[in-house]
Amino acid sequence: MRIRVLGLTGIGLVLSLFISCHRPPAGARVQGTIGRQGMVVSTHPLASDVGLAILQQGGNAADAAVATFFALAVVFPEAGNLGGGGFAVYRWQNGQIGSLDFREKAPARASRDMYLDAKGEPIKNLSLRGHLAAGVPGAVDGMVELHQKLGRLPWQQVVQPAIDLARQGHVLTEIAANNFNRSRADFEAANLSPIYLVRADRAWQKGDTVRHLDLARTLERVRDQGRAGFYEGPTADLIEQEMQAGKGLITKADLAAYRSAWRAPLTGTYRKKYRVISMPPPSSGGVALLQLLQGAEAYPISKWGHNHSQTVHTMIELERRVYADRATHLGDPDFYKVPLAMLLDPAYNRGRNANISPVAKTPSQQIKEGRVDRIESTETTHFSVADREGNAISLTTTLNGYYGCKVMVRGGGFFLNNEMDDFSVKPGSPNQFGLVGGEANAIVSHKRMLSSMTPTIVEKNGKLHLVVGTPGGSTIITGVYQVVLNVLDHGMTLQEAVNARRFHHQWLPDNVLVERGALPDSVRQRLTALGHQLIEVGNLCKVDAILVRPDGSFEGAADHTRSDGKAAGW
Ligand code: DON
Repeated sequence: MRIRVLGLTGIGLVLSLFISCHRPPAGARVQGTIGRQGMVVSTHPLASDVGLAILQQGGNAADAAVATFFALAVVFPEAGNLGGGGFAVYRWQNGQIGSLDFREKAPARASRDMYLDAKGEPIKNLSLRGHLAAGVPGAVDGMVELHQKLGRLPWQQVVQPAIDLARQGHVLTEIAANNFNRSRADFEAANLSPIYLVRADRAWQKGDTVRHLDLARTLERVRDQGRAGFYEGPTADLIEQEMQAGKGLITKADLAAYRSAWRAPLTGTYRKKYRVISMPPPSSGGVALLQLLQGAEAYPISKWGHNHSQTVHTMIELERRVYADRATHLGDPDFYKVPLAMLLDPAYNRGRNANISPVAKTPSQQIKEGRVDRIESTETTHFSVADREGNAISLTTTLNGYYGCKVMVRGGGFFLNNEMDDFSVKPGSPNQFGLVGGEANAIVSHKRMLSSMTPTIVEKNGKLHLVVGTPGGSTIITGVYQVVLNVLDHGMTLQEAVNARRFHHQWLPDNVLVERGALPDSVRQRLTALGHQLIEVGNLCKVDAILVRPDGSFEGAADHTRSDGKAAGW
């Protein structure tokens, strides 16, 4: 670490002493996996390997993404899923871009106050645990859509590797064994009969093999019948039976009606040479990321340096304002007029950020959402894939909490999501991530709940540059933001950018989560002096990303220090 003296401009700021952070000297750079022909980076080595094998069989990025998705549903049931949903952003080699929304929907019988008691207060855990927490899954429909539009190999070929993994079994990592053990009581409480992921004899251990035979049969129906293998016939029967037994709401009619949606991705420029392509509502991710980048552009982030106190302070202040907007203005655009043009208008964001002080934090109670004067007429997991033709897909999928609502569909072998908690169950009442919301994100039948998922692709000078995303609930947006700035402004290799310790602020609650080791003492002291309340936490986000290097090769960076992730390239 070097000690530097740096002059800071503006409002009479004096020279500030700081310790520059975590940038290893040239020559000792930490790098991810390098590949020339393709790259798959996911949170599980077996899923990354499945995706890579599909690329090597002549599949493109869409084929590999679908295969990786289904493999994660087997080897990473914490968040990989058939019973959940997600978002994908793609950029094809010819420059074509698009995004797919396969987010869950509220069942037809869902209603605005369904999680409130007679006094109008949220009933603890009702939107989080058990059958009532589940939204109508979008995952299988999403994968069918993605494959039909962009895939090249036969559908059967991309689904089969997941079936093989489910039938033959796979060996548990330490993280996977611990996750099963930690959730044992939840599995027992949420399910009406014992599920096979609870061992009767002893706790799971690293090295144990687990087979998923019911899941294999469900996947075979999906392989053979596509969408109908999940939304109709035996799988739909099993879901409806599970719901009836557990007093859940999802019906076969809900399943038959589910359709994912292709949406125009949001795009914005950053420091002229970058174009950022990200997910539109019903995710808040793209809007918030673009607002944050517009904010960052006005400051000499790169000159200040990574995790310098002024960089961190400024980013926190931008985050405070953006998350306040998120709470009020964002929801499912099919049900609520999201003021997108206003939120992405540089003049609006400049105005909103104008009162950021370099010498003091703005307390969150003094920040409200921006005023709408213009309405237009209207444990999650992320993986990144790039193929040798230069096609790329950034995909984030989730059950919301680990194993979703913890209910496994009997006979189906898959967990259902607890995504209903992402709705604002009561205005101003925080969800599991502490996020608040109101009318824009209120529960309505068939509506999609607001998300923070931020699958993102960045172009540099018109060419594919970065494919990035992460799980982490409300911290997803700030996690992606930091990795983007680490690469674009701080010149880190992708692996350095992913490894770098992170921080997070989301307006409410008014504190800053800081990963252990993220900030030197001097920076912590300075931030505290500016009024920020810092809370030390373990890991924030698990970013899995791909960077295109100047020579055209790929750097795949998995979040090794925070997960089992693997970058598989060739
Ligand atoms: O859609 C969302 O924003 C959340 N359901 C994501 C949940 C999540 O990332 C949990 N993982 N750590």
